[in-house]
Amino acid sequence: MKHIFQKGSDSNAPVLLLLHGTGGNERDLLPLAQMINPGSSVLSVRGNVLENGMPRFFRRLAEGVFDEEDLVFRTKELHDFLDQAAAEYQFDRSNIVAIGYSNGANIAGSLLFHYKDTLRGAILHHPMVSRRGIELPELAGVPIFMGAGTNDPISPAKETEELKQLFTEAGAQVEVHWEHFGHQLSPTEVDAAANWYRRNFA
Ligand code: MLT
Repeated sequence: MKHIFQKGSDSNAPVLLLLHGTGGNERDLLPLAQMINPGSSVLSVRGNVLENGMPRFFRRLAEGVFDEEDLVFRTKELHDFLDQAAAEYQFDRSNIVAIGYSNGANIAGSLLFHYKDTLRGAILHHPMVSRRGIELPELAGVPIFMGAGTNDPISPAKETEELKQLFTEAGAQVEVHWEHFGHQLSPTEVDAAANWYRRNFA
């Protein structure tokens, strides 16, 4: 997968896996990694799917309606890519914390839905429930931050609560931070994520 790897000064810190929103690319979230933990190595990936020229991490049939077969395929592709990247760049595969926004948060959520021990933790900005009707792997000890909007038209508040419940039932420690800027990622949400990161990983 097309990506950027930046080696950090602290080799014990989690590697931050950056996953952009629809129409973004692997450069978009680099400033976020700096705000979350400047010492971390960063692996920032570009989604392999194009929708009218806009990169995404999996196909959708309509706004909010995911192509489940492609979601499963792309989730495995990303999971396998993380194994390869850890070997190539020599970082600890078990020490990855994802930071995703929107479509990127949805593929990060899908990694957690389908694979045990694939992420040590996750910051999900405005995620949705990527898939329903499956049993999640054991997520005990996995901290998850979710940034959500009370008035988010793409990831409705009700869906945020549903996702929180699914992760919590699987054993994850979920913290939801609410904003009221629709689907936007606001500076206060990033601050809240950075505080959460410090509490859980610093
Ligand atoms: C998705 O397709 O993953 C969500 O609708 C968010 C987005 O617009 O990318």
